[in-house]
Amino acid sequence: MRRACQLAAELLEHLAPLVKPGVSTLELNDEAERWTQAHGAKSAPLGYHGFPKSICTSINEVVCHGIPSAEQVLKDGDIVNIDVTPILDGYYGDTSRMFFVGEPSPVAKKLVEVTEECLWRAIREVKPGARIGDIGAAIQEYAEAQGFSVVRDFVGHGVHRIFHAAPQVPHYGVRGKGKKLRPGMVFTIEPMINVGTYEVEVLADGWTAVTADRQLTAQFEHTIAVTRDGVEVLTLSPAKVTA
Ligand code: MF3
Ligand code: CO
Ligand code: CO
Repeated sequence: MRRACQLAAELLEHLAPLVKPGVSTLELNDEAERWTQAHGAKSAPLGYHGFPKSICTSINEVVCHGIPSAEQVLKDGDIVNIDVTPILDGYYGDTSRMFFVGEPSPVAKKLVEVTEECLWRAIREVKPGARIGDIGAAIQEYAEAQGFSVVRDFVGHGVHRIFHAAPQVPHYGVRGKGKKLRPGMVFTIEPMINVGTYEVEVLADGWTAVTADRQLTAQFEHTIAVTRDGVEVLTLSPAKVTA
């Protein structure tokens, strides 16, 4: 899991300089696919329940599962989530982050900052004996205090040699409730935070999830492991691990 997750983190770092106005999300997809193969890995999303591409690219009001396309060209002011999941030697590394395309609006900037802080507040809850509900509560408390809402329809998940395994990890919840965390558990935390309503709709393509009010949304995702004394963030980028 460490090696698969480090590869996932490196892939996001590799794509970062390509994210700029005028680049299509298909170009990001194709470079991700090429890089993944060159590193001896496979792209988990490709063909997963019929998903047609190698990564997810979710722009502005797209909550998650955006499909890369040649017609979808990044423009100044966009915010975009890139979600990658390489499979290395049978293990899945799942991570995503937001990118600013050019200059973000003040609300976009705040949304992205709050969403990343939500993920880190959740990660700091993780230790043996803590509960799944502690994770969601930490996210919900902070997001709502900042005036934003938490998506209910998509959750974090166990991940190992299976893409979406038990447990489900909601990004809302009640402290002290839910399954107790034990050393060795590996799962994602991937809060989706909206400016307006938390309700989402899935477009006619069967994948693209958008906010029901078409206002902005953001997401960050790490794969984490519960350790004997706390948490290890498996998809932390190499630069940050050594920083
Ligand atoms: N990587 C996504 C997650 O965080 C799942 C993408 S599934 C796909 O769980 F089929 F849309 F690619
Ligand atoms: Co995930
Ligand atoms: Co993901």
